[in-house]
Amino acid sequence: MPTLLVTASPHRDEALGNRLARQIAARKGGDLLVRDLAAEPLPPLTVDYARALTLRDPLPRSNATLELSERLIEELESTDRLIIATPMHNFGMPAALKLWVDYVLRIHRTFAPTPQGKVGLLAARPTLVIVSSGGFHRAGESKQPNFLTPHLEAVLSTLGIRAPEFVYLEGLVGRRATPEAMIAEAVAVLGDAWY
Ligand SMILES: Cc1cc2nc3c(=O)[nH]c(=O)nc-3n(C[C@H](O)[C@H](O)[C@H](O)COP(=O)(O)O)c2cc1C
Repeated sequence: MPTLLVTASPHRDEALGNRLARQIAARKGGDLLVRDLAAEPLPPLTVDYARALTLRDPLPRSNATLELSERLIEELESTDRLIIATPMHNFGMPAALKLWVDYVLRIHRTFAPTPQGKVGLLAARPTLVIVSSGGFHRAGESKQPNFLTPHLEAVLSTLGIRAPEFVYLEGLVGRRATPEAMIAEAVAVLGDAWY
């Protein structure tokens, strides 16, 4: 069962979320396809891409941005399991991950508009989202809002990927524990499907 790992941390391999994601992927086995959005940043959207998505008749000329969108969607279509490891930036997803969303959540391609709302066209799959944050955002310890979880849940469900599991690595700035202890804490709350 091939896994797609999408990572968005500027800390790259040093990011705790990336370490945990790779640990989980290694345990699951199978091929691993990595889309590292920090190592290989996606280019900004072009006017041709915006027009192709919003005009009734897509532009006939070659559209490099649309081709990149196709490649990123094919990465989702050629894998059966999805892991996203992302930091929280300013209460939401980092710009690099948002740009990936703008390439893969595409009208008439990965979702269909219907009178009942947007319907996802990708196959359902087990999906895990690892969210790292400098501070705390969950009930009890919460000192800030978390727009990342509801936003990404809406994006994934519009793609056709429902009920993703979220796991949180919180308080990473001024760490209260060793990286190993924090990973163990996150693993302890993961469902059996993942660990
Ligand atoms: C631009 C930027 C914005 C950030 N915004 C938040 C935030 O809103 N809330 C928070 O708890 N941490 C915030 N942080 C801290 C990161 O979430 C924290 O450093 C986390 O460890 C990053 O995870 P990573 O190691 O996977 O990159 C921010 C960091 C950066 C660089």
